[in-house]
Amino acid sequence: MTQLWTGRFSGATDALMRQFQDSIYFDVRLWESDIAGSVAYAKGLVAAGIISEAEHEMIQRGLAAVHAEFAADTFELKAGDEDIHTAVERRLTEIIGEVGGKLHTGRSRNDQVATDTRLWLKWQIVKLRHHLVHLQQAILAQAEAHLEVIMPGYTHLQQAQPIRLSHWLLSFGWMLQRDKERLDDLTLRVDVLPLGSGALSGNPLGIDRQLLADELGFATFSANSLDAVGDRDYLLEFLSWAAITQMHLSRLAEDMIIYSSQEFGFIELADAYSTGSSLMPQKKNPDSMELVRGKTGRIVGALTGMFTTMKGLPSTYNKDMQEDKEPLFDTVDTLTMTLQITAGVIETMTVKTAKIYDKMDSTMLATELADYLAKKGLPFRQAHHVVGQIVQQAIALDQPLNTIPLGFYRQFSDLFESDLHKMLTFNRAADRRTSHGGTGKEAVAEQLDYFRMLVEAVGEAEE
Ligand code: ARG
Repeated sequence: MTQLWTGRFSGATDALMRQFQDSIYFDVRLWESDIAGSVAYAKGLVAAGIISEAEHEMIQRGLAAVHAEFAADTFELKAGDEDIHTAVERRLTEIIGEVGGKLHTGRSRNDQVATDTRLWLKWQIVKLRHHLVHLQQAILAQAEAHLEVIMPGYTHLQQAQPIRLSHWLLSFGWMLQRDKERLDDLTLRVDVLPLGSGALSGNPLGIDRQLLADELGFATFSANSLDAVGDRDYLLEFLSWAAITQMHLSRLAEDMIIYSSQEFGFIELADAYSTGSSLMPQKKNPDSMELVRGKTGRIVGALTGMFTTMKGLPSTYNKDMQEDKEPLFDTVDTLTMTLQITAGVIETMTVKTAKIYDKMDSTMLATELADYLAKKGLPFRQAHHVVGQIVQQAIALDQPLNTIPLGFYRQFSDLFESDLHKMLTFNRAADRRTSHGGTGKEAVAEQLDYFRMLVEAVGEAEE
């Protein structure tokens, strides 16, 4: 079987060259959007009077038959099927005869592949968005269930100030909220139809591009045919989005990994998301989260690779652009998994409240002491210094800040009075952070309400 462009050639393609340039083994995944594009294009052709009603009817029937073969997984690839576009056309012509050859009139694989990929990506975005919202819901449920739990808040991975566990979890919910907003925003630029741009210069047949856009459900059509066939920005934007989203999952994974270690012991991952060691019988490893963290490499790699492919390409379509699909597919597949796995881990984790309290270091109350002195009139800089000395001394004496008697404190400042110790609890420290976005109970409850409203906004929950 020869390729469909061989008229101009007298010699055959080198066998390795064929293998080198064939994209069918990966772009076969675009079959459904490719057929949808052809269904729409045939309607455009009949409306423009390029094919007759009878021919149109045959083409639609043929395309439906090809669709049915793919759907039933009975479509047979043949040698010479370079890519999904040629495979579909070849089969269509086998089924309906020569009329099938009319479908490509005025169309190029250049506007076709861009159309197929955009359409496919739009479908994937709907699914990814759904998984993202599901993960937000998992975070929301755990945050609601653990509003009362106080844990160490860290900077530099050193215990810093007490925070609510809900507050920590919600911090990831907000990252995902921005990811959702970014996804919605970039969808506007994916949602542009290239079909009708031809190979590069447009369509000479009076094809109605608004009709094509409406048929395929695109919000609009491209304004410049050269740009339409040469543009892969929508992929770069999507891959950038994926890299940022995956980076968020990776950071969440890292927290989950350290918090579930013996050294922390704050949470336990469900058996369903852990694995054992072939050698050490006691091991329960957080492989789910390690893989989520680890897969960030391939997603960032896809983005970097795509940038490198695009840089320096001359105007319009170049075959280099065929390299866009594998990283795109891999990124969609990977993120589809990582979002769902992360949601599963969050939904099924156990919070070890007693262990968390065991690990809370009283030095996290040092800021309370400084604030206490500042409130009594000592400039904060001085208060900070005095408390630094107190902490140093308390550590030397191996005494927790919340239980050393008042007399100890009064050696450093006579501003310390009998009201001191009631200030020195983790709950109190957390609840004093009443500012919007702070870790106080009221503030977190308010944050929860706001987050819940955004996650459960009309249409989100049941998507
Ligand atoms: N398989 C090609 C791709 O993915 C389709 C477009 C081919 N266009 C061409 N002029 N050879 O980019």
